[in-house]
Amino acid sequence: MNDAMGIGLLGCGVVGSGVARLLLEKSDRLASRAGRPLVLRRVAVRDLHKERPVELPRSMVTIDPIAVIRDPDIQVVVELIGGVTDARQYVLEALTAGKHVVTANKALLAQHGAEVFECARKHERTVAFEASVAGGVPIIAAVSQSLAANQITSIQGILNGTSNFILTAMAEQGQCYEDALREAQKLGYAEADPTLDVDGGDAAHKLAILAQIAFGIAVPFAAITRRGITDLHAMDLRFADELGYTIKLLAEAWLDGKQVALHVEPVLLRKTDMLAQVRGAFNAIQVVGDVVGETLYQGPGAGMMPTASAVVADLIDLAVGRAQRTFQSLKLWSATNTGFTMQSPMEVRSRFYLRLLVEDRPGVLADICKALAKEEISISSVIQHEALDEQEGEVVPLVIMTHSAPTGNFLKALRHIDAQKSISAPAVYYAIAD
Ligand code: HSE
Repeated sequence: MNDAMGIGLLGCGVVGSGVARLLLEKSDRLASRAGRPLVLRRVAVRDLHKERPVELPRSMVTIDPIAVIRDPDIQVVVELIGGVTDARQYVLEALTAGKHVVTANKALLAQHGAEVFECARKHERTVAFEASVAGGVPIIAAVSQSLAANQITSIQGILNGTSNFILTAMAEQGQCYEDALREAQKLGYAEADPTLDVDGGDAAHKLAILAQIAFGIAVPFAAITRRGITDLHAMDLRFADELGYTIKLLAEAWLDGKQVALHVEPVLLRKTDMLAQVRGAFNAIQVVGDVVGETLYQGPGAGMMPTASAVVADLIDLAVGRAQRTFQSLKLWSATNTGFTMQSPMEVRSRFYLRLLVEDRPGVLADICKALAKEEISISSVIQHEALDEQEGEVVPLVIMTHSAPTGNFLKALRHIDAQKSISAPAVYYAIAD
């Protein structure tokens, strides 16, 4: 067998422990797949005394990431510390020191992809990042390699396991949001700061990476319209269900002429849609290509061993030499101009679900319809149930589904609706995926 490939690990939390376990416990299998041994040489941790789900020889562990990066017996640095500031510094340092980098850090790539990839190219090193999107689902390889004959026309994905776990628990078991989040944290799905899971930030990081690969556009992270699930009301899950839909936190990017529309939002999906049936911490991504048509990828999008599976696949690709060739040919985050630009969020067309709490009085529905009509928004269905004691003036929920309209027109109509005296609480709205 050829020379061993020395590996240094930065971070030994949930995913890091999984990677270490895989490298230590399945070394024969990995060596046979890689054609040479993959040897874990050093692991940098923040706390030497913390209990971990993997036993590491004491001599392997250090609190000094720079010592790992500079170790001459290490050819590949695996960055699993998360966050952006320190991770950026260590990744740039590793590349400059002539090490290849494997990372699961979507925030780092979404925000500093151009800098990191330029540094890698300058030092003729490779950055492999399969684990950064959808955990164990090989979506990076699918979009960048297996679908290379296509122009991707749309990507629609459940890219955050934690929020999908919470939505499933709320919709199927009537669990409250807080309990479901606590459970997702206990199971190791959530980010260190779970705000990113539930506010759409984590899914937006992943969408920015997919948009770069599929459309060659560097999307500034802050420019991605995103809304999370923190304000989602059980009432809207019930109305969606009544209408034949379910609500999922979707990351979507699609081509509209030469423009790419993209957002991360809770969206109504028909129950028959394949993505609507994705439950728990699973991720799923539907990718449409102009040659292949619709494809679907599904699997565990978070957690220790699924994410470790993707990290170690990158290590094998590096050991074999495939990752280096792919990295060179993709030219990601380079100045290459694909001719696509990002569509303004206000121009993005969608159907909408609108739920209002209104006073049950004559003319209320007419005023709402007038505000929508003024913006040329056509209504496709309306639900208003009879109030329990049928007293006029009582506050009742009113649900309107619209036909397709530009987001800007819809939001303008909403401002007029919210200003009406008969509206008792700010309007709630979600896009409908069709
Ligand atoms: N916290 C992420 C999720 C997993 O819940 O999907 C890593 O990306």
